[in-house]
Amino acid sequence: MNSNAETPKDKGLDHTLALLSEGFQFIPNRRKELGSDVFQTRLLGQKVICMSGKEAAEVFYDEERFIRKGAAPPRIKKSLFGKGGVQGLDDADHKHRKLMFLSLMTPERLDDVVNITRKNWQAKIPEWEEAEQLVLFDEAEEVMCKTACEWAGVPLEGNEVNQRAKEFGEMVDAFGAVGQRYQRGKKARERSEKWIEAFIEQIRAKKERPAENTAAYVIAWHRDRKGKLLDRHTAAVELINILRPIVAIGRYITFGALALHDYPEVRQKLEKEEEGYSKMVAQEIRRFYPFGPFLGARVRTNFNWNGHEFKKGTLVLLDIYGTNRHPDLWEKPDEFRPERFKDWKGSPFAFIPQGGGDHYMGHRCAGEWVTVMLMQESLEFLANQVTYDVPEQDLSYRLGRMPSIPKSRLVIANVRRAHEPSQTT
Ligand code: HEM
Repeated sequence: MNSNAETPKDKGLDHTLALLSEGFQFIPNRRKELGSDVFQTRLLGQKVICMSGKEAAEVFYDEERFIRKGAAPPRIKKSLFGKGGVQGLDDADHKHRKLMFLSLMTPERLDDVVNITRKNWQAKIPEWEEAEQLVLFDEAEEVMCKTACEWAGVPLEGNEVNQRAKEFGEMVDAFGAVGQRYQRGKKARERSEKWIEAFIEQIRAKKERPAENTAAYVIAWHRDRKGKLLDRHTAAVELINILRPIVAIGRYITFGALALHDYPEVRQKLEKEEEGYSKMVAQEIRRFYPFGPFLGARVRTNFNWNGHEFKKGTLVLLDIYGTNRHPDLWEKPDEFRPERFKDWKGSPFAFIPQGGGDHYMGHRCAGEWVTVMLMQESLEFLANQVTYDVPEQDLSYRLGRMPSIPKSRLVIANVRRAHEPSQTT
């Protein structure tokens, strides 16, 4: 790139409405129109720089150049993230809190979450066999919610799981929403925080005793760098930072079921349980389908990169969706091809559905291993443990909706337990 390059500008006064209507394609559309991976626009009344691609991701994750404090708008904190969580921390405070999250991801605990998921899917079969049809997205969020709470040491009463799954789902669904969808997410967060704050108090009063290796225990007793317990609101926000995103895996599972429907050869290969194939499918689902559109950070100090001026305090958005489909990085990016991940050794900045770079050093998602493993387990379940029909319905999903989901939320019918292959003696 020319070292005297000027950053191209998106014409017009403010593009917030365009962002809300173009959604996942807002940055890719302009990247193509302006012929540049870096461009300037205006959103919510402020100047914003948008960037796409591997080099852009490398710069975005350079901690000397960017901070997260003040990057997320208040409406996102009120619905999706909560206030005081790890997402908005920087430097030593961030690393200390991040280690707490990553300490939960031991091989034993990852095995546990997979086993709990398998059990919870299996338990659904009798109920599904009774029903004429069901909405897979709702079922997946419910199974994931049950799994999340069980794994994290959070008790759920009888039929509470429906309500909690709905609340966690609504927080995720509020991203990029205005009006009712946003209000639902905000209210859901208020209710969840109240519930989890009370639970944290119970743990600290020794009235609840989750196992020591659970997120509930670790977070309730976590001490900050000064040796103080987290205030109960922050502790609740962080425990929700484990529960909510596990429920969100239900969205990827739904897209996974769509892939099984749209690409029968993928289902056939999953049925044959070819070595490593379910992981390739999970990776391709995370690359191909729209979930996280972009990430935000603020410029820490003035710098120039490839001729583009970055002024202290400027909001910068890194294009997740567009980087995962960037034509310089991916062959035939708009085709669903799990095989592209066979022996894939690409850059941690090229494939960024859950952030880029290093999990320990930067903000990359703490739950990436959980996500991939639960997707694999769920895909194998759908391909091999049950049979079902996919009746006529509107399976299209809009790239203008953030986050997106097939319109029908994927209805399946006539579910039956798959026959075990007959044993030969
Ligand atoms: C459903 C699929 C998921 C998606 C699409 C997703 C996506 C992301 C993204 C884009 C980030 C931000 C990375 C950055 O700021 O640089 C992130 C961060 C995070 N995710 Fe996930 N995630 C998912 C699942 C999970 C799961 C299952 C967990 C926990 C069990 C989790 C816990 C976290 C935490 C704690 C952070 C904050 C990390 C930090 O700021 O250092 N996520 N995720």
